[in-house]
Amino acid sequence: MIKITVPATSANIGPGFDSLGVALNLYLTLEIFEETVQWHVIHDYGTDMPDDENNFIVKTALSLAPNLTPHRIIVKSDIPLARGLGSSSSALLAGLAMANTLGKLNLTNERLLEKATVLEGHPDNVAPALFGGGVAAFYNGIQVFHAPLKLPQDINFVTFIPKYELLTAEARQALPAHMSFKDSVAASAISNTLTAALSVGDFNTARKLIEMDQFHEQARSHLAPHLEIIREVAHQLQIIGTYLSGAGPTIITLVPKKDTQKLLETLSKMNLPGKLLLLKSDFNGLQITKND
Ligand code: HSE
Repeated sequence: MIKITVPATSANIGPGFDSLGVALNLYLTLEIFEETVQWHVIHDYGTDMPDDENNFIVKTALSLAPNLTPHRIIVKSDIPLARGLGSSSSALLAGLAMANTLGKLNLTNERLLEKATVLEGHPDNVAPALFGGGVAAFYNGIQVFHAPLKLPQDINFVTFIPKYELLTAEARQALPAHMSFKDSVAASAISNTLTAALSVGDFNTARKLIEMDQFHEQARSHLAPHLEIIREVAHQLQIIGTYLSGAGPTIITLVPKKDTQKLLETLSKMNLPGKLLLLKSDFNGLQITKND
């Protein structure tokens, strides 16, 4: 049996729109068993999700290796769908990694990242899902440039996952078609300064910049009303560092370990409609293990 494990991810981290992301400790696992006549995908997502060659993971694998022999596979995931935690990126990478392994393609992680980025459109989820930890990345239509993004060790990700789904396509439609030169300079300066602050471990500066996004959060605020609510509650506790995870609707607050419990307790008393989780960085990224 071959087992592929891919972590969840949180993209943007505030102002790093389409470029910053971090892997988190929720996982999709794909177990590959014996060869079969037709693809047989066992999952518990219900009847709407195909269990044959039309399954997204299988289709992604076949896009890379069209002659792949069908197998029986089991997919399990604790990454909620369409919530801004990289569920589709994890499935996409699992499919590519399955094709790479079964098809003996010997593609490097660099090539896998390029393939995944082309399919996803931007690298901010797929890059950290592949490499683990924080990643900064840029795709120019030809090549993916990427570098590790240092995040503080003593940090937790207090994560609120609303009950409702929000498709990335819908959340991207809410984005402005244009930004002025002046606004673009300011928005990218905020993001640059955030990465510099993180690189030297200056979380005091970083956490303020995380809340200064000018690319997407304002435009998406009607789709993710919990952002303002949770940010405000955190501020009352002197905790700064709340942002919209990916395209939303999940909200994440980066919290020093010492402040984590008080934020969790306060938020859980509010009974917001959704799930409150304490997540941590995943530093392994995509893993493949083989058991005979
Ligand atoms: N950077 C992307 C966005 C992440 O915010 O739309 C979602 O895939």
